[in-house]
Amino acid sequence: MNTVIEKTGETDIDMQIIRQAAAIIQKGGLVAFPTETVYGLGANALDEEAAKKIYAAKGRPSDNPLIVHIADPGMLNPLIKEIPPVAEKLMKKFWPGPMTLIFRKSAAVPKQTTGGLDTVAVRYPSNPIALALIREAGVPIAAPSGNLSGKPSPTEGEHIIEDMNGRIDMIIDGGTVGMGLESTIIDVTETPPMILRPGFITKEMLEEAIGEVDVDPAVLHKPQDGLKPKAPGMKYRHYAPMADYQIYRGETKKVAEAIIHAANEKAARGFKTGIITVDEHLNLYSEQLRSDVLVVSIGNLKNPETIANHLFKVLRNFDKENAAYIFGEAFSEDHVGQAIMNRLTKAAGYQVIDL
Ligand code: TXA
Ligand code: MG
Repeated sequence: MNTVIEKTGETDIDMQIIRQAAAIIQKGGLVAFPTETVYGLGANALDEEAAKKIYAAKGRPSDNPLIVHIADPGMLNPLIKEIPPVAEKLMKKFWPGPMTLIFRKSAAVPKQTTGGLDTVAVRYPSNPIALALIREAGVPIAAPSGNLSGKPSPTEGEHIIEDMNGRIDMIIDGGTVGMGLESTIIDVTETPPMILRPGFITKEMLEEAIGEVDVDPAVLHKPQDGLKPKAPGMKYRHYAPMADYQIYRGETKKVAEAIIHAANEKAARGFKTGIITVDEHLNLYSEQLRSDVLVVSIGNLKNPETIANHLFKVLRNFDKENAAYIFGEAFSEDHVGQAIMNRLTKAAGYQVIDL
């Protein structure tokens, strides 16, 4: 398939491109577009044939439901049965923005969009390109992250082109996204509400707004046999680089020593090997480390948002380097750290070594 690729900025949106993309959505086609979190792969959420095409383009199992994107609060009511009071509070505080709420769905939303579930995930993004596209299309847009299933989510135009060129009708390249991690997902059909996927809107921020919230145990732990994560997507291998990636957790110096030892051993055997650290610890990886080991800073500890911003790009770059092994540091699980460690732990296939 020939994919139209067009670039537009967020502040000077080229409406001709938006109109072209909206016409594709209305005709049941697929358009990838930037949001403030990651790039999405969009189709008309109310058109079951269009929803099916999303699964095919991503290579995604069809029991994994899609998030429906709206461009004003008025688009919500036709999609759902009721708005629980906690949801009202959250919507007022965090929409538009990186928060997805799970509601009981109305008959208008096809089961193809919700992976067969009776609930629907809805998000009102803040990215002006995403908003312009939804408004121009005049329909809610179902959009998973625009990566091929299992790969790290796309956070740059280059990533979405890499994964989707030739597979969909159009890509809107809006450059690098602002946040770099997918939205926080909260199930508000439950009491207390439950975080199914952590994100930039943290547990602490949610609790300040509505009181107690639970966190799905599958967020940071390997789902045990019989313990099913509430977000179907969380059960799949995800965000995974091609390399074998191990995370070391413990006292900083000990962690660096263990990582250097492990990386040197793999590199000596001829394997392309990488290390993920932070700005503050770069100096720990100079002396005893072989020069052929690739050391990458993922951001800085003073401002953990920088780690979130670069996370998927760093994982993708290791694929480009054909890395066979990656050794990385663990980070704090407070605030946005919970989302960071959720993605890294899954990327590592739960290989976290406590020292
Ligand atoms: O930031 C984001 O949320 C991005 C951008 C494009 O908006 N989208 C995104 O979609 O991350 P996706 O499909 O990659 O992840 C959606 C997650 C999956 O784990 C899925 O299982 C879960 O949301 N989900 C969707 N609908 C659900 C539902 N009704 N109940 C439980 N989990 C649901
Ligand atoms: Mg995804």
